[in-house]
Parts: sequence; C-alpha cells; structure tokens
Amino acid sequence: MKLWEGRFDAPTAGDADAFNESLSFDKKLWRADITASVAHVTMLGKCGIISEEEANVIAEGLHSIYADIERGTLAVEGAEDIHSFVENELVSRVGQVGKKLHTARSRNDQVATDMRLYVRASADKAIALLKEFITVLLARAKETAGYIMPGFTHLRKAQPINCAQYFNAYSEMFLRDLDRFAALRKRMNVMPLGSAALAGTSYPIDREITRDLLGFDEVSQNSLDAVSDRDFVAEYLFAASLTMAHLSRLCEDTILYTADEFGYWVIPDAYSTGSSIMPQKKNPDIPELVRGKTGRVYGHLMGILTTIKGIPLAYNKDLQEDKEPFFDTEKAFFDCISIYTALVKKLTFNVNAMYEAAGEGYATATDVADYLAKRGVPFRDAHAITGRLVRYCIQERKTLPALTLEEFRAASPVFEADVLQAVTTRASAEGRNSVGGSSTAAAKAGIASIKKRLKKY
Ligand code: ARG
Repeated sequence: MKLWEGRFDAPTAGDADAFNESLSFDKKLWRADITASVAHVTMLGKCGIISEEEANVIAEGLHSIYADIERGTLAVEGAEDIHSFVENELVSRVGQVGKKLHTARSRNDQVATDMRLYVRASADKAIALLKEFITVLLARAKETAGYIMPGFTHLRKAQPINCAQYFNAYSEMFLRDLDRFAALRKRMNVMPLGSAALAGTSYPIDREITRDLLGFDEVSQNSLDAVSDRDFVAEYLFAASLTMAHLSRLCEDTILYTADEFGYWVIPDAYSTGSSIMPQKKNPDIPELVRGKTGRVYGHLMGILTTIKGIPLAYNKDLQEDKEPFFDTEKAFFDCISIYTALVKKLTFNVNAMYEAAGEGYATATDVADYLAKRGVPFRDAHAITGRLVRYCIQERKTLPALTLEEFRAASPVFEADVLQAVTTRASAEGRNSVGGSSTAAAKAGIASIKKRLKKY
C-alpha cells in the first residue's frame, strides 16, 4: 500500500513505480529507520500526542519487526521505500493504531534522520578501521627502523631514507584522514527529526526526548535546512576520497617497490595473483584494484556534489540519489582499507637490496656538499664542487663512496679522511637527525609521536 494514495484516482504505472522506488537500496536503512521510529513514538506518548498505551503497542510492534528482519524471517520487499515498508508491516501487525506512528513527522525528516544515523555509524567504522591500519603501519615502522631504502623525488633516487620514516609518512596521512572522519562525525551529529515535511509541526513535540534517545548532540535549528541538508554525505565522500588518494599512493609505491626492477619489498603469495597465459607471472592485483577503486569513490563525490547543487529549498526527490553513491563508496572504501591492512601486515623486505639501491645514483651527493659547507665552504660552491665530482664519477664509472681521498682532494683541499665515512649510505640516512628526519632515532621519535596522537581517538 502507498502511504499517499488517498489523493489519487488511478494507481501509478508499473514503470513509474519501478523508477520511483528506493526500497531495493534504502532497505539498508532498516535498523536506523526502526530505531528512529521507536524514539519518535516514545516521544509522542510522553508528550501526550498519542496515549502512552498506544505508544507502547507501536514500539512493541516495531521491535518485533526489527527482530524478524535481524533473524531473517521477514523479507524487506514489496513497498516503495523502507519507511513505507516498516509502516505497512507495523499496521499489519498491530492494526489501526499503527497508523498513528506518522503523527508529527514526514518522510522528509525521517529519511534525513535515518541517513544521519547510518552515516554516523559508518564514520565510526571508518575511524575504527583507520585506527587499526595505522596501528599496523606503526608496527611495521618499529620492525623496520634502521632499514635503509632509497628515497625518491621525481621518481629518481634522491637521498637514502629510513624504512620506518617511510611508513610513518603514511601514518601521518591516515591520521589526518582519521581526524577528518572524527570532525565530520561531530559536525553531522545534529538531529533533523521534528522538522516534519519542511515547515516544522504544530504538535507539541519535545525534540529533546528524541535527541537524547538517538544520541544526537543537538537538534537542528532550521526545518527547511534540516530536511534538505546532505552536506554530511558529501563530507563523508570527500573524507573517503582523500583517504583513497593516500591509499592509492601507497599502492603505487607497493607496485613499484615489489617489481623486479626495484626488488625492495615482497608481497607474499597469499596476496598475489598469477596470469592465465604467462606461467612466470606474479601480479600485484590487490594494490592495482585498490588504486582502481579510487576512481569510483572520486566519481561518487562528484555525483553527490552535482546532485545537491541546484535543488531549490527544501526537500526534493533528487535527494534520494544520495544513497547508492554512499553505499557503494562505503563498501569500496571499507574493503580497500581492510585488505590493505592485511597486505601491509604481511609485506616482507629485501633489506640488503634496499640498502644497495639506496646508495646508487650518487644518492649521498648532498652529504658531500654538506661536508664541505660544514667546514666553511659556502653551500652554493660546495654544491658546484660536488656536482663536478659526480660528473667525474660518471666519466670514470665510479660511485661516490668508492672514491679515494686523493680523488676527493683533487676536487677540493677541504676534504679530509673522514669524508670516506660521511659519504656512506648509512651515515647519510643516520646523519639526518632533524625532527621527522631519516635517522633511526628521529624515525623512532616519529613512531612515538604518532602513537600519542592516535590515542586521542
Ligand atoms: N525515498 C525517499 C528518499 O530517499 C524518502 C523520502 C520521500 N519523501 C517524499 N517527499 N517523497 O529521499
């Protein structure tokens, strides 16, 4: 039965019904919808808008529907949307009194409330998953503190870095993401229920009762805004998009670093895939898929922004289009963080190959220039002297650490025997002891700092 058929002479056409319906996807809101209805009817009873007895009958009916859906004995089907489904089912269970549930509310404030409850729970899950992921990254950082690997700029070897410092970089990104979810969760925790269709209600409702029952921090202060606000969906999709951007960068690094050409890390067989034709292949499908799914999440962000941009105040049916992008994002996003948490846990490291690679490409040239500058040569001159040394190395097919003291001194008399030590890969990484730098001590301090900030959530 339609909730609104009284005004109509003829039933809706089958294709119009099919086009209009949302039950096929908004059935995911069943928990939120029933929970909000129980709170609403409890408030109606307490305020004397319906009798306490009627409120109890309705609440019990709603609880029995909840239990049956949970148990799988009640299929959610055969109605226009989740709100109609629950109300129809209620009336069929408790009779005429069930028709009083919708007093002093509209589907407009109802769906806005349901969606907030759903997205709020989803933000909590995002926060929990990110926390777990960062905990794994911190554990890997702790294990790999002191492993030296190449650091890149422009995807060219730049300077040696610390593996722990590398993992900490991603922890910093995901910690910002976590903070974004916590902030949007706080901002969205405002209750639209009680706004009714758009203009508020003439019944003597007490919104504080429902606010308290549903765990909202505040009640909305403008009914027109409250029924048509989906900013919280857009904010969630943005936070998910940026998290996916970070995850996608980590995937790109993983794909590169595990390729034969790099050979720094290994993805275990359990998280790799093969080829149907090339027997030798071991492919990084999981990081590729995560990187790929970033596209659909960005697409959903664009989708919701476009959906909300031109709608006149207040509620319009366009807003039904907030759900599928949200649900699809949530699934892709949770799947990606979960699988990557598992994969990162199992990564292994070719410690020697990373160290060797970190020293290639004259990666300690900055240390040679710094050596001179620390002994009074202006840095710009030190840079030029070192540049000439690198050119000499290229001509002679030598590496910087392989140069003799005589070769150094031919470039500048400032060089002493200790340059041979300063130019090694480990000395380079360990020498950068500034806050956040590549020394093992700095990387360990980074771990402690991240742990401390993570504790706040
Ligand atoms: N399925 C609708 C939605 O998701 C519920 C609200 C319907 N309200 C209305 N005025 N037709 O937005």
